[in-house]
Amino acid sequence: MRGKFYITTPIYYPSDRLHIGHAYTTVAADTVARFKRMEGYDVFFLTGADEHGQKIERTAKSKGKDPQSYVDEIVASFKELWARLEISYDDFIRTTEPRHKVVAQKIFQKLYEQGDIYKSTYQGWYCTPCETFWTARQLVDGKCPDCGRPVELLQEESYFFRLSAYADRLLAYIEEHPDFIQPPARRNEVISFIRGGLEDLCVSRTTFSWGIPVPFDPRHVIYVWIDALTNYLSALGYGTEDDERFKRYWPADVHLVGKDIVRFHAIIWPSILMALGLELPRRVVGHGWLLVEGGKMSKSKGNVIDPHYLIDKYGVDAVRYYLLRELAFGADGEYEEKNLVKRLNYDLANDLGNLLYRTLTVLEKYGEGVIGEPVEKEGPDDELIALAISTPARVAELVDQLQLSEALAAIWQLVGRANKYLDETAPWRLGKDPGRKKRFDTVIYNVLEVYRFITVLLGPFMPGFPPRVWPQLGIASLPALHTFESLKWGQLPPGIRVAKGEPLFPRLELED
Ligand code: ME8
Ligand code: MG
Repeated sequence: MRGKFYITTPIYYPSDRLHIGHAYTTVAADTVARFKRMEGYDVFFLTGADEHGQKIERTAKSKGKDPQSYVDEIVASFKELWARLEISYDDFIRTTEPRHKVVAQKIFQKLYEQGDIYKSTYQGWYCTPCETFWTARQLVDGKCPDCGRPVELLQEESYFFRLSAYADRLLAYIEEHPDFIQPPARRNEVISFIRGGLEDLCVSRTTFSWGIPVPFDPRHVIYVWIDALTNYLSALGYGTEDDERFKRYWPADVHLVGKDIVRFHAIIWPSILMALGLELPRRVVGHGWLLVEGGKMSKSKGNVIDPHYLIDKYGVDAVRYYLLRELAFGADGEYEEKNLVKRLNYDLANDLGNLLYRTLTVLEKYGEGVIGEPVEKEGPDDELIALAISTPARVAELVDQLQLSEALAAIWQLVGRANKYLDETAPWRLGKDPGRKKRFDTVIYNVLEVYRFITVLLGPFMPGFPPRVWPQLGIASLPALHTFESLKWGQLPPGIRVAKGEPLFPRLELED
């Protein structure tokens, strides 16, 4: 074992069905979790649902349902989607579960007892859809600065968290830990936000009841963001008798979130952890937006893309590949279905699928489908092999930095090099010349061994891919050759019989 690795996604609001933006975050976290497991880490991968708050209470009511049965239904649809996307989470935390409520209340109580939470009066502008209070100067044209919708002026007796008291320590921490907030653009935003001054945070509500009661003053419910953030601890059993998981996995190695909620994770959350005397997460990574027609997806624009539609049409692996390839680290990316089709045709069908297909075709035609020994090395072999040998560590490093698109690009560099190698060595010519049998065997061996590397490395990105390749390579029953550890050159045993199948990714016609 190489140590533990705790990675989280945001817990999504069950106010609506999930779209490809949520799928993006979860697929990215899943890929990292799978890769780390493959490398031998003891991984804990957490996702879940953020089920309280006024918005959910209202949505349930508008559908004539009580909030609990409403969220139960939506959360079932979350889990269905994650199953289809092959999300390998280790736990799914729901903020309506008793195991969560107990911990959220304990934390609130502790912060109150030690004076980090105090009672006062709140007056502020509240945006219900965003669950956020704004000060007058934060409003833009009198509207919510995030979503542009109208806000309401609310005044209420509330509990406050002494966020202001943590500003200096937080700034110092961020400065001493350059990797804490990533990418750098997000880090800079957070730093200037803190420098602009932090006010104490209102952390309770009396205007609605769908939430976790403040334990010592049950007229109040705990503010939804405090409730939500503590999921990262409650899922580990923090503060309970069964805290083995907490001891093993805390602190989180990566909180992966969209850039919309970096501030909550990089300002409020670490301040609470400091107040609790807990270690801070190693990294908060804020990725960019998946945009549709240049803007956010929204129901009103009618441009919300349902992942089920894409999975039905193109298959899980292609959808995962597209999402992971399309968004460069930290940047926004534009969703367009025709780009998915292009990626499928060029990257998956032409480059990846065809590499195996044409190699196995030649081997079956001229080599009786049996992998020979690599005994006659020539010209381009060294370059290909050197690239294969260096690729796993390079990909692992990029995955560790959450640069998943770049990691795929590094794998595709090897795919591209292997295709070029086939063109350079032309085994379909070597195969016709009995005097060149050894060279033929060597070329085929090299390409198939490279393909083994590629297949292992792609497993975390496209979990359905390796199980389709192994039978074709004739090594389905040799799991030792499917591991990250086996990526040392020359493990593929000569004498194996391959079994060419259908092309792995058939080309699609571009529709209008
Ligand atoms: O914010 N592109 O939940 P939420 C990329 N419950 N990612 C997107 C996206 C898009 N267009 N749209 C959504 C909440 N996301 C809180 C979180 S965590 C303690 C509480 C992803 O349902 C992205 O990860 O609004 C974003 O941060 C998250 O969904 C917001 O999900
Ligand atoms: Mg949101």
